[in-house]
Amino acid sequence: MKHFFTFLTCLFLAVQLQAQNEFNYDESKVPQFTLPNPLVLSGGKKVKSVKVWEKKRRPEIFRLFEEQVYGKIPAGLKMTSFKVVEQSDHVFNGLARRKQVEMVLQKDGRELLVYLLIYLPQTVEKAPLFVGYNFYGNHTIADDAEIMLTQSWVANNPSFGIINNQITEQSRGVRTNRWPVKMILESGYGLATMYYGDVDPDRNNFSDGVHPFAYLYGQTQPRANEWGAISAWAWGLTQAMDYFETDPDIDASKVAVMGHSRLGKASLWAGAVDQRFAVVISNNSGCGGAALSRRRFGETVQRINTAFPHWFCTNFKAYNDNENNLPVDQHELIALIAPRPVYIASAEQDRWADPKGEYLSGHYASPVYQLYGMEGLPSADMPPLHQPIMNRIGYHIREGVHDVTDYDWQQFIRFADKHLFGK
Ligand code: GCU
Repeated sequence: MKHFFTFLTCLFLAVQLQAQNEFNYDESKVPQFTLPNPLVLSGGKKVKSVKVWEKKRRPEIFRLFEEQVYGKIPAGLKMTSFKVVEQSDHVFNGLARRKQVEMVLQKDGRELLVYLLIYLPQTVEKAPLFVGYNFYGNHTIADDAEIMLTQSWVANNPSFGIINNQITEQSRGVRTNRWPVKMILESGYGLATMYYGDVDPDRNNFSDGVHPFAYLYGQTQPRANEWGAISAWAWGLTQAMDYFETDPDIDASKVAVMGHSRLGKASLWAGAVDQRFAVVISNNSGCGGAALSRRRFGETVQRINTAFPHWFCTNFKAYNDNENNLPVDQHELIALIAPRPVYIASAEQDRWADPKGEYLSGHYASPVYQLYGMEGLPSADMPPLHQPIMNRIGYHIREGVHDVTDYDWQQFIRFADKHLFGK
């Protein structure tokens, strides 16, 4: 049986790789394109001051991302309550404290439960924090028998023992490789994580997760300009931020939001939506994340909208094979985060996510940072492997595949140290 599932997983990966091979990986075949200028107002006037950027241009760009890309997050939708349902003062041999927080959303007889797992370093009174979603449940991120198991729908992954869209003990600790909890704690930071499927299960079904809480009578799916899953995940991060502000053990003014891949798309959008995030980090976020859509390198808008029809808003589908008509490109998502520090991480073999396109987004967002007197990524040329740039826009490319590694985390910590503490 086990071999059968391993076989199925291999087959699935092979089919995915085969599909990915049909896309462009040849730099010489990247089309010519002109990017929208973040510092020109829709009426054609140049933006020359922070004031005009903040009052006029930023709202214009923000609205375009809301209406045309990710979909609007319903205003005023907030968790009904937060409750610490479990805590311990002695975790990892005294290195940390742990809290598990139940965030409850109740409305019209419906209920959504989202669980935040928080580790805080014992040595720090009011801890700065990294917050990020995990893919398969909080219990996967650490070898810690006390982490509660999510009841939410989870994508099957036979190699983790997840077969009926339900997790079991078998997957406890299977993702510790992506979450160097001790390193984070020893660096003086807390770590908070949530399972993204608690907020919105990652499947093309708009009757579960948080979406129905915002429907008007009779509505069964979001309208063309309303939130897809990425916006729903971003909303979940803003709710976690609301909780942090109530917790005296957390320094809510020093929260770095981090996400990998689809969840890196969500962390960037959350950083744009919610300016309380002091640092924003995306790892291998690719198409619809940091990568420029107009490059059409690796994953394209058409492909992402087909494979994941529920991630973006319906309006975004109008740009399938039609990137030049997008009123924005992803460098403007980075620009929406200005003047806060933003970090973009790529991996050499993660060509599907277009490392160069990820770098260039940071580069083309830089004029907005310059307006604030801050340095982004001034050079149009990418740095070599393992030579991180730690400006107000940070960037690295490491060797290896699509993943989150200790190397990545080391840079995220350095970046946060520099920009939050001037270290
Ligand atoms: C797929 C998808 C990417 C996404 C990735 C992930 O590869 O095409 O856009 O980033 O999954 O989330 O792992």
